[in-house]
Amino acid sequence: MCGIMGYIGRHDAVPIIYEGLRRLEYRGYDSAGIAVYRPGEKASLGLVKRQGRLAELIDHLEDFSGSTLGIGHTRWATHGVPSDRNAHPHCDCSGRIAVVHNGIIENYAQLRKQLILEGHDFVSETDTEVLTHLIEKYYHNSLEAAVRQTLAVVRGSFALAAIHQNEPDKIVVAKNASPLVIGLGEGENYVASDIPAILEHTRKVYILDDNEFAVVTADEVIITDFIGDPVDKEVFDVTWDLVAAEKGGYEHFMLKEIHEQPEAIRATLRGTAVDGRVDFSYLGMDELFQKTGKIFIVACGTAYHAGLVGRLAIEKLARIPVETDIASEFRYRDIIWHPDDLMIVISQSGETADTKAALQEARRQGIKVLAVTNVVGSAIAREADQVIYTHAGPEIAVASTKAYTTQLLVMYLLALYLAEVRGTMNRAELEGLYSELLYIDTLVDQVLAEEAKIKQLAQKYAHVQSTFFLGRGFDYAVAMEGALKLKEVSYIHAEAYAAGELKHGPLALIESGVPVMALITQDHLVDKTMSNLREVKARGAVVVAICKSNLQEACEECDEQILLPDINPLLAPIVGVIPLQIFAYYMAVMRCLDVDKPRNLAKSVTVE
Ligand code: G6P
Repeated sequence: MCGIMGYIGRHDAVPIIYEGLRRLEYRGYDSAGIAVYRPGEKASLGLVKRQGRLAELIDHLEDFSGSTLGIGHTRWATHGVPSDRNAHPHCDCSGRIAVVHNGIIENYAQLRKQLILEGHDFVSETDTEVLTHLIEKYYHNSLEAAVRQTLAVVRGSFALAAIHQNEPDKIVVAKNASPLVIGLGEGENYVASDIPAILEHTRKVYILDDNEFAVVTADEVIITDFIGDPVDKEVFDVTWDLVAAEKGGYEHFMLKEIHEQPEAIRATLRGTAVDGRVDFSYLGMDELFQKTGKIFIVACGTAYHAGLVGRLAIEKLARIPVETDIASEFRYRDIIWHPDDLMIVISQSGETADTKAALQEARRQGIKVLAVTNVVGSAIAREADQVIYTHAGPEIAVASTKAYTTQLLVMYLLALYLAEVRGTMNRAELEGLYSELLYIDTLVDQVLAEEAKIKQLAQKYAHVQSTFFLGRGFDYAVAMEGALKLKEVSYIHAEAYAAGELKHGPLALIESGVPVMALITQDHLVDKTMSNLREVKARGAVVVAICKSNLQEACEECDEQILLPDINPLLAPIVGVIPLQIFAYYMAVMRCLDVDKPRNLAKSVTVE
């Protein structure tokens, strides 16, 4: 996710902003920039922004010494590739207004069109730039009023900070859905997207809530809502150290990212629908979607597991045959291609060598490739014919969590869109399922609330050598991801099996005390799965059921139960995986392991 740092006071702004941005580097970024107010007879805004690392700015910042007001940004691309032009801050046509922004302006395309008609010149591909031109449009000697008017017309998520050359005594900030804090100093104040950026200067902060707006001067912070009604806010005293602050107060990035999933889901959902139905017509692939006879989904690791769910969803909803394969296998198979085939590659990083090779092979064969990735401008995003982005934000822990759930979400959205294009679902069904996706973030929240119970389970089983993860259908796909998570971070042997297949071999491994994690979310398969679980229980296994609350009674023979909300079985993987992520996390913690950087593993695998 992008980083924001702003300063107003009596000291040199540039080193403070630069250092603040450096403190946010751990979150990942692809470009950076700083804008300052340069006083003097010919007062102006100074602006430097570059693709790449923060250090790229250093040689260009000398002229800005003496500035005591400025805003800076580290960008993690969401709209428009990483480039100098797309980096923040963005300016209006006159160069008097500078804005930094985190989040996504959903209605930017329509606003941009209108502003261009009105004569505004756009220089970047970003959604953010509409903010600067709107503020310019509404500016009549009050930055505060212009930003308020701008907020009334934009839709989406934002944490933004704006400065105007004519009002060098203030930074105007606003927040909706993206984090923003204001740090309080003596005769100086700070704004930032995250606490680590300002922690070396102050521990007294206002943490803005959604729909809050502030005018920050060197001596004062006035907080209101977007309309202008005053908001009574308490100063928050930060007691964390810097390392803890980077992790948002969580002990590890993995746990932080597990908890970020509701927000990551909301961000990925934003702007995906028109009139209550998914709309991917902008991909320009409708004709192929209509006629394709086969879809190949290709990926590695966790992304491959998302592809397994994707296959089931697309087959069920859109009735298109789908094959999901591991990229390192797929690339050496002798595929029987048909010109109307479609390949979907899934990759969090967009850089995985095997996935990229599979994509390249398909393109050599003249097959269209649709990429699902989390990183704008990544190799896979660039080489595919079209891209759907997940908006999980940077994932720092090696074990993937929020990237996976957002990949699942995109798989469902795509399945729905394919179903609409192919006419396999009617309007009411399409709208009904989409509306279920719209509140899935709240169901994830409900499961996250079970953390303490899952932690206790981990305490109980942290000593074991071996585990099994069982399920049928969608549950089998989730079991595979749960087993992978446990292996990755706790180094415990974890084997995922289709529940009905167990007796064809692995049952021989079941002995007294072996934990079996059973996914039970598919109403029509519950009896079948329970018969398989009786087989393992009879051989001494301890069965932990992760079951939907409406199936609780059917699962009462299980030794432990983690209850999930009563969700549509088709969508259950998004909530079903959460307890398994938390379980893997605490198993690793109990075993005192390096959770975020497991041995032998890398976040991005760019070699074969
Ligand atoms: C590595 C990571 C996994 C990831 C896999 C595929 O193994 O440790 O978390 O699932 O690569 O990565 P991708 O970036 O292509 O999703």
